[in-house]
Formats: sequence, structure tokens, C-alpha cells
Amino acid sequence: MIKRTAAITAIGGYAPETKITNADLEKMVDTNDEWIKTRTGISERRILKEPGKATSDLAVPAIQEILTKKNIDPTTIDCIICATITPDMVFPATANIIADKVGAVNAFGFDLSAACSGFLYGLTTAAAFIESGRYKRIIVVGADKMSSIVDYTDRNTCILFGDGAGAALLEANEEGYGILDSILKSDGSGKDFLHMKAGGSLKPASVETVLAREHFAFQEGKTVFKFAVKGMADVSAELLERNQLTGDDIAWLVPHQANLRIIDATANRIGIAKEKVMINIERYGNTTAATIPLCLWEWQDKIKKGDNIVLAAFGGGFTWGATIIKWGF
Ligand code: UT7
Repeated sequence: MIKRTAAITAIGGYAPETKITNADLEKMVDTNDEWIKTRTGISERRILKEPGKATSDLAVPAIQEILTKKNIDPTTIDCIICATITPDMVFPATANIIADKVGAVNAFGFDLSAACSGFLYGLTTAAAFIESGRYKRIIVVGADKMSSIVDYTDRNTCILFGDGAGAALLEANEEGYGILDSILKSDGSGKDFLHMKAGGSLKPASVETVLAREHFAFQEGKTVFKFAVKGMADVSAELLERNQLTGDDIAWLVPHQANLRIIDATANRIGIAKEKVMINIERYGNTTAATIPLCLWEWQDKIKKGDNIVLAAFGGGFTWGATIIKWGF
């Protein structure tokens, strides 16, 4: 029997034009270019500055790029999954707003909250939908307007994050291309180290929560760093082992872009040379759910059909995981 897989057949991306450089941040908080570069690898990030614009406005151009490139009628899309932690509104789902904006009137959609691992969770979910035979054409978009939840008076976090979106078109395939395997993990006890304190049902917005600056991302960086280094490297190694692959079989590693030191540790652990690792953190910072698809978007002309690619992520939740794909175009 022929096995049905979910192949990635197109990639789109979008990063807003406005940049915040390390020099800009030096004027806002007590930091410096050298510290930021050596501790994180980041030089600048993009920010969606226009008032009235939201995460869906990052996702839409990324998806439009796919529709135009592939000449796809949006009414043929079965589903849109939006991985985000910065939805336009608490409800309805940003995926629904995106579907409306791109004319995907026959698609159902939902948001997926898995922070920096959101794109991998989304790909794995979409692949299962397609492999089941129920759906044929799904868009997974990782999009975050992190500037909407970053405290630009907090030097621990404001130097890290940027805004962006990346989207993948997944289509049913019978030639073995696509999502081959995935290991996804989570540990809710990690919530204390990376979260937003207020704005949820636990602590609804109030004058007090605003005055206490509780509507911003909080991170205990050192603790998250330790978990991230181990989590991302371990899960990537586990995935390769389960598929009887070594670093030599892998054409590209696409790590979540949170910190250059975490990226290096993952690449070393699974034996992948630096030139096979997609890294653009210096130009975008950490765009949360968008980092991995933004890398694929920028590297797509270098990737060859049939390349084995490992995607790896770690983020708030904690959530983490790794996915292996055989490139389909
Ligand atoms: O994407 C989601 C998952 N997130 C991650 O994977 C992020 C994981 N964490 C990290 O990447 C790192 O922990 C950070 C980049 C956030 C911080 O780097 P670190 O090497 O862990 O630094 P630290 O927090 O231990 O701070 C070291 C020092 C402290 O000063 P003292 O106490 O040693 O005097 C900080 O106050 O650096 C100070 N510091 C800064 N100095 C200049 C913290 N932030 C800054 C800053 N500029 N922006």
C-alpha cells in the first residue's frame, strides 16, 4: 500500500521593515552591543510598528506569498493552523482572522499555543490530518508580534525578541516527501520560568496588573537556558537515533533561534557542521513561533529536493521537540 505523507511544497515569510538595533537598545536600557552579541548572537530585530496592526498582519503576507507563487486558489485550502502566543485577540482565533483576510473561505482554522515550539507542533498536527486522508492542503503559519508583549524597560528580555511570520504549505504526497517523524515534548512545571503573568483567567487585566507591568513576557533566562540546551539537543539526538540516522545523513539543521550558544550545543550534539546549520538570529532575534519557518524561507533556494532536514525547538511551557522532513520541492 502506498503511504501518504504531508510534503512541504512552498514556504512564505514576512518580516516588518522597521529595525531595532543593539545601538537603539543601548539608548533605552542599560545594555551594550558587545554583551548582546556575545551572550545571544543578536544584532537587530524587526518590529511591526504601525498602530492597528497585529499578528495576522504578519501572517497574511507570508501566506499570500505562497498563494501567489503556487498560483493557488485560497478556497482550496482545507485548514489554517496559526502557531502564536501573541494572537490578535484572546478570541476569536487569529487563524480565523487570517483565513478571512486571505479568502480561505472553505478552511477551518485554529491557533496553537506552544510558544517557540509552535511551528513544530503545527507541522506535526497538520501532517497527521493529511496522513489520515481527511485533508489534502493545509497551511501552517508561525507568527508572533513579540513587540506587543515585550517590556522595553527590561533589559533581560527586550534585547531578545522580534516580530515576524513564516508559513508552510503542506500537501498530500505519495512519493515519500514531507514530515517523516516528530518527537514533541512538554513540561508545564516550567511555567514559572517563562510566562506572562496577567491577562489570562488566572489574573485578568486590572489597573494593578498594568501598573505592575504584568502584561509583558517574563523570563528567568539562566534557568531556561539550561533546560533549552539539554532539551533541544537531547530530543534531536533521540529523533536521529529512532530513525537510524547520523549527522552525515542530514543536509540541514534548522534550530529555533533563541540564542547562538543553544544552537551551537544542539549542532555539536548531533554532529552537524556549522555550515549546515541555518542561523539568522543576528538579523531577526527571537521571533518565537516564526524562527524556524523564517529560516526555511531564507534558505529555500539552497535546499535541494530530497534533502533530510532536522527542525528543533525549545520554548515556554516548557515545550520542545524535533521534526525530520524530506524536502519536497
Ligand atoms: O525562546 C524561548 C526560550 N528562551 C531561551 O532559550 C533563552 C534562554 N536564555 C538565554 O538565552 C540567556 O539566559 C540570556 C541571553 C537571556 C541571558 O544570558 P545569560 O548568559 O544567561 O546571562 P544572565 O541572565 O545570567 O546575566 C548575566 C549578567 C547579569 O549581571 P550580574 O548579575 O552577573 O552582575 C545580568 O544582570 O548580565 C546582566 N545582564 C545584562 N547586561 C547587559 C542581563 N541582561 C543584560 C543586558 N545587557 N541586556
